[in-house]
Amino acid sequence: MLTNKTITFIGGGNMAQALVNGLLNSGVVPGNIKICEPDVSKQSLLSKQYGVMVSGEAKDVIPGADVVLLAVKPGVVPLVLAEVGSILSIDSLLISIAAGVSMATLASGVAAGQPLVRVMPNTPALIGAGISVLYGAKGIEESKMELARHVMAAVGDVDEVSDEGLLDGVTALSGSGPAYVYLIAEALSDGGVSCGLPRNLADKLAVKTLIGAARLLDESGEHAGVLKNQVTSPGGTTIAAVAQLEKGGVRGVLMDAVNAAWQRSIELSKPV
Ligand SMILES: NC(=O)c1ccc[n+]([C@@H]2O[C@H](COP(=O)([O-])OP(=O)(O)OC[C@H]3O[C@@H](n4cnc5c(N)ncnc54)[C@H](OP(=O)(O)O)[C@@H]3O)[C@@H](O)[C@H]2O)c1
Repeated sequence: MLTNKTITFIGGGNMAQALVNGLLNSGVVPGNIKICEPDVSKQSLLSKQYGVMVSGEAKDVIPGADVVLLAVKPGVVPLVLAEVGSILSIDSLLISIAAGVSMATLASGVAAGQPLVRVMPNTPALIGAGISVLYGAKGIEESKMELARHVMAAVGDVDEVSDEGLLDGVTALSGSGPAYVYLIAEALSDGGVSCGLPRNLADKLAVKTLIGAARLLDESGEHAGVLKNQVTSPGGTTIAAVAQLEKGGVRGVLMDAVNAAWQRSIELSKPV
């Protein structure tokens, strides 16, 4: 579906590069990708690395684009919309990955009826293992939603919500979630070191256990509770550890963490 589509990125930072990389790997030709990036040193790096057209001027890369993807920091979006909004064709799909920038803010910077999609990706997108959740503007054509799904599928799984408010929960779970997992990985490794394991072995065991358990959970289709029960033999080592986790309130703490991120996302999304 993307073969003949031209895709322009506004901002050439981490997330844009993950997407450019994913799109090139999925068969989009470099000639169909353009980037607007103000940083001159980044411009030459980007064109050398990906073979795509890079310019510091939005007007050089917006006209003719089927998709324009806003990949700038949230605070920069109003400034970018002021520049891009007037040169954007009404047929171009505008995708924003800027956290907390509402559909109303996006709509206020473009023509009425502009196809708009908000997306919350996460950083595993950098290795093609992201999960992106999409929210399309009311009344958006299915063909434009399908185009957005294909673009984001270049960096991982894709899902969507039909209620914009749910994006705060998505931010709290999958957007911020990689940080929770890194903290758990670090703590597991510390536990291994406290049992006498060398740090490099403990680090490796922690990360491989997280990856393996996550893959088994994903690929087996079993509920997490069922898989947990399978490794807790009566009177064994694992149930002794599980008892400590429960005593420490690990479930409640994780739920509270997601909830705190959700509240913060709601606060940050409020118009100032
Ligand atoms: N990273 C994540 O985990 C994550 C997850 C979900 C959503 N997001 C969203 O993704 C967006 C991009 O994040 P990122 O991590 O890729 O940020 P980033 O690495 O800082 O990239 C943003 C890029 O935009 C450039 N830029 C600034 N002003 C511009 C302008 N007027 N026109 C064009 N380009 C401009 C910046 O250049 P300078 O460096 O010169 O300023 C920078 O290269 C953010 O809105 C963020 O909320 C990120």
